[in-house]
Amino acid sequence: MNKGCKYGTHRVVEPKGTLPQPALKIDNNMEIYDNELLIDVITLNIDSASYTQIKGVCNAEAMKMKEMILSIVKERGKMQNPVTGSGGMLIGTIKEIGQNFPDKSLKVGDKIATLVSLSLTPLRIDQIIHLDPSSDQVDIDGQAILFESGLYAVLPTDIPEKLSLAALDVAGAPAQVERLVKKGDKVCIIGGGGKSGVLCCYEAMKQAGPEGKVIVVEYSKENAQRIIDMNLATEVIVADATNVMDIYHKVTAIVGEDGCDVVINNVNVPSTEMSSILITKDEGLVYFFSMATSFTKAALGAEGVGKDITLIMGNGYAKGHANLTLNILRESKPIRELFERLYV
Ligand SMILES: NC(=O)c1ccc[n+]([C@@H]2O[C@H](COP(=O)([O-])OP(=O)(O)OC[C@H]3O[C@@H](n4cnc5c(N)ncnc54)[C@H](OP(=O)(O)O)[C@@H]3O)[C@@H](O)[C@H]2O)c1
Repeated sequence: MNKGCKYGTHRVVEPKGTLPQPALKIDNNMEIYDNELLIDVITLNIDSASYTQIKGVCNAEAMKMKEMILSIVKERGKMQNPVTGSGGMLIGTIKEIGQNFPDKSLKVGDKIATLVSLSLTPLRIDQIIHLDPSSDQVDIDGQAILFESGLYAVLPTDIPEKLSLAALDVAGAPAQVERLVKKGDKVCIIGGGGKSGVLCCYEAMKQAGPEGKVIVVEYSKENAQRIIDMNLATEVIVADATNVMDIYHKVTAIVGEDGCDVVINNVNVPSTEMSSILITKDEGLVYFFSMATSFTKAALGAEGVGKDITLIMGNGYAKGHANLTLNILRESKPIRELFERLYV
């Protein structure tokens, strides 16, 4: 076996000198290097911002969406949406383990979820077995590679695998909420009715406690109603988060002119940066989990309105994120039932 770089640079085809995530093309030859894992893929969970973009361009036609996914992977050697830049993650069965892969406890045949983005994961798709435009989980025949530095979780036995996949896809979000939200905080979760939003609401309610406030801004009445029914927020606002001043007036009517201590952005559409920034109090913080976030709009926008606030980019990884997220499914029967209904 050839010796590979810890970070997968040996698979970068172009441009040379970069890492696999920002690379335009990576080598998806499935002959493994000494420090890699080969995975027989079962299901891809395409990132929501990416899937929404593909669905829009393809008018929600399954055939066209399949063709677009196949052509992206053929061109790039990975499932990285060229418009959003984002990927997703996958579940599969370990087929082969390089002799220098660091974790010696893994065995061929173990089922794992990769916890690094598909936007850097060498992937070959032989066939798309099932694609439903309304679900971002796509069943395929194909293989993928995990680098030595790649994170993964062995799938638990008490949670169905597709349910774990759905939750682990967004595990970084509730884990950051656990770190960022303090007792008594006023928190606003934008796009709180979606997959990551629901998990963040649960964690924010837990951390802010009875003295705190958790406000959800959600686009559809249906998603908003779910949050009310599950008691996952203290207030729910139905509004379009791209309509900045409307959001500002509605949120400050609840928390006061000073704004929120913490704002979590979980939408899957562009142009919600300023809504998040305007409702954040001086020296408060915004966590942009959304992949539709523009660094330029957020950084220059905050400066433009004179806001001294901390803007945190949504690093998908936080230590312990997989366990924390799977534990939410174990602790909350309503969330588990909702996820089973929507995502499995
Ligand atoms: N940072 C990371 O590592 C990472 C990892 C995974 C995912 N992500 C990103 O995180 C975001 C959320 O992912 P997800 O899986 O939770 O997505 P999701 O389930 O599709 O949730 C998105 C939510 O945002 C709502 N929304 C959309 N447009 C809105 C608007 N204009 N105003 C208010 N709410 C709006 C949606 O409402 P409707 O359903 O009514 O449209 C939905 O409830 C995506 O951008 C995804 O790409 C980031």
